[in-house]
Amino acid sequence: MLKNDLFLRACKRDSIERTPIWIMRQAGRYLPEYRAVREKSDFLTMCRTPELATEVTLQPIDLIGVDAAIIFSDILVIPEAMGMELEMIESKGPVFHHPIRNEDDAKQLKNIDAVKDLKYVLDAVSLTKKELDNRVPLIGFAGSPWTLLTYMVEGKGSKNFSEIKKLIYNNPSLAHSLLDKIANSVAEYLSAKIEAGANAVQIFDTWGGILSQRDYKEFSLEYITKIVSNIKRNDEPVIVFSKGVHHSIPEIANCGCDVIGLDWTMNIGDVRKIVGDKVALQGNLDPTVLYAEPDSIRTKAKEVFDSYGKGSGHVFNLGHGILPDIPPAHAKALVDFVKEESKAYH
Ligand code: CP3
Repeated sequence: MLKNDLFLRACKRDSIERTPIWIMRQAGRYLPEYRAVREKSDFLTMCRTPELATEVTLQPIDLIGVDAAIIFSDILVIPEAMGMELEMIESKGPVFHHPIRNEDDAKQLKNIDAVKDLKYVLDAVSLTKKELDNRVPLIGFAGSPWTLLTYMVEGKGSKNFSEIKKLIYNNPSLAHSLLDKIANSVAEYLSAKIEAGANAVQIFDTWGGILSQRDYKEFSLEYITKIVSNIKRNDEPVIVFSKGVHHSIPEIANCGCDVIGLDWTMNIGDVRKIVGDKVALQGNLDPTVLYAEPDSIRTKAKEVFDSYGKGSGHVFNLGHGILPDIPPAHAKALVDFVKEESKAYH
């Protein structure tokens, strides 16, 4: 059915003729066409309006030529649906004005019904599927319980993560009950996205790396594992992207996921040796390489291919999201290079 299913085949480690590429945060402010839509609507309105979410989801497919679409939304729609008031402050990022710090705060959180409370995201998924017309697969996503709880407790971006650390060390049982509740919502939400047409899902664990190895296992990976086993799916791949967790690669490979997303601090070839053919790997070019001129971008992208080596099981991506001040022509140069150069590795 899909005209280009390279991304799905790479996730399953099936043999393919070239390496597929998509870019985390590919629908975003580095594109003038995104900024034009964003000028007329604020970010959350864009998330809540399926026509606008669909429009910006398709932009990088048409303009940059990536091999997969990722639905335009945000990880914080789940805490918002649980009743937390969310504001996106220009140049500051997301803010929850009433963060969760104790049992009383936690009692205020609603149990969500993903299909009802996040219907606008599911509508965006269905509309995007229709507009994509099977050109490329569509990825759905959610935040990991740990990363979501970090935002819910800190209330905003943080440097030392003091509030979430106080919670897990002073009151671990409250932390665990919140993580469990979020994990149930995320599993239901990702299942609903698949039901609405998503061909794969990615769990973003941006803050996994602020924990020690032991605590990562207890407070993050445990709940990611629960989600992976509870997602209702046929053969839609699950990608787990935990940033900064080089210490736990074998454990992540055993969580039931199909693909591990790697940040750029790891050597993808070394990781491949550790995981063998248990999972595929996604990544992992340093996002700041895209500031360089196309010749240097190509050199650095080739280093990733050489490190991974020949054969399937690699989805090319950056090691984290594309930055807002990257020239779109540099992203396009990367995509063109990956499409051409990677043939030699298959
Ligand atoms: O990848 C894609 O193109 C899909 C869209 C997507 C967005 N957010 C759009 C967005 C995805 C997958 C996310 C995930 C997300 N959101 C994460 C996990 C991934 C990561 O980057 O670590 C996190 C931590 C968030 C929370 C969040 N949302 C932050 C910290 C910010 C502010 C970032 C900034 O640069 O200002 C957002 C806002 C946001 N989410 C924007 C976009 C395109 C920018 C909003 C704008 O137009 O001003």
